[in-house]
Amino acid sequence: MSSGSAPAADSRSLSAEDHGPETHTAHTTTEMETAGHGTAPDTDMYQQLLSQLNDDAGKNGQTGVVPRMMDIRRQLTEFQLHYKFGMDEVLTKINILREEFEHTRDYSPIEHVNYRLKSLDRIMDKVQRYGCEPTLKGIRHAIRDIAGIRITCSFVSDSYWVAEMLCSQPDLRVVEVKDYIRRPKPNGYQSLHVILQVPVFLSNRTEFVYVEVQIRTVAMDFWASLEHKIYYTYEGEVPGDILDELRDAAEKAAALDKQMAEIRDRVSSLKRQAPTSGEGATGPTPADRPNPSGWFSEGAPSEGSPE
Ligand code: GTP
Ligand code: MG
Repeated sequence: MSSGSAPAADSRSLSAEDHGPETHTAHTTTEMETAGHGTAPDTDMYQQLLSQLNDDAGKNGQTGVVPRMMDIRRQLTEFQLHYKFGMDEVLTKINILREEFEHTRDYSPIEHVNYRLKSLDRIMDKVQRYGCEPTLKGIRHAIRDIAGIRITCSFVSDSYWVAEMLCSQPDLRVVEVKDYIRRPKPNGYQSLHVILQVPVFLSNRTEFVYVEVQIRTVAMDFWASLEHKIYYTYEGEVPGDILDELRDAAEKAAALDKQMAEIRDRVSSLKRQAPTSGEGATGPTPADRPNPSGWFSEGAPSEGSPE
C-alpha cells in the first residue's frame, strides 16, 4: 500500500500498538493488526448490527436475499472507506509537512508515521465495552479512533510543534486534545492525543469523520510498545512489581527526552555562534521557531518535564 492510504486495527484495551508498524514507504508505515488481543465481540452485537443493515437494505428497495446481502456489503464497505479517506487526508497533510521540512529546512520534527484502521471485530468489541448503539450511526458517533495515526518525533517540543501545525489547519476540526505528556497516565503512559474531524468530500456530500492522531517521542513510543506487550502477556493482570518497574522506566524515558533536548539546545547555541551552519540534524530549538496559532503554547511544559 502506498503512502497516504490505509488499512485496518484499536484502543488501550487493544493498544498503543494498534497503530503499529509495517513499512510501506521510506517514511510512512501502516497497521499491525494484533490478532488475538482483546475479547471477541458478542455475537449479539453483530446480530443487532446486521439487523440494522438489513433494515436499511430494505429501505434502499432491496427485497431479495442476494440484493440485500450486496447492499449490506456496500454499506459496510462505504463505512470503512470513509474512514480510510479521512485518514488519507490527514496523512497527506503530515507528508506535506514532512516533505516541506526535509526539502527546505534540512530537518523534520517527524521521525515516523504509523497508521491503521480499526477492524470490525475491534470496533464491535469497543461497541460492547462502551455500551454504544450497535448501528453504523451509533458507531460513527461514539467511536473516535476507527482511523488512527501515530506520529513519532525526536523531541517533546517537536511533538507539540507538530500538533500545533496540524491543529491550526483550517479545514480540520479539533474535537479534543488529551495531553498525557503534561499529565501522564498513572501507569506512566505519555503521549499527546488529538481527536480530529476531517471533511471527506464524496460525490454527493461532505462527511466529517473522526481521526485520532497520537504524537509522542521515540522514547515514549518505546515505552508504550513494551508496556502494551506486557499488558497483553498478562491479559491486563500485570503483577505489581512489573507495574512499578514500568512507572520507573517511564520516568527514565522522560529523563532521557529531557537530556536529549538539553544536548540539542547546547548544540544549537554553538551553531548560532558559527554563522555558516544551518539547522543541521538537531533542528531549531523551541525558542527559534514560530508559534502558528497558540494551540499548545499556553503553559506547554518544558522539554521532558511532565507535571
Ligand atoms: P480507548 O477507549 O482505549 O481508545 O481509550 P480512551 O478513549 O480512554 O482514549 P485514550 O486517549 O486514553 O487512549 C487511546 C489510545 O491511546 C489507546 O487506544 C492506546 O493506543 C493508547 N493508550 C492509552 N493509554 C495507554 C497505556 O496506558 N499504554 C499504552 N501502551 N497505550 C495506551
Ligand atoms: Mg483507542
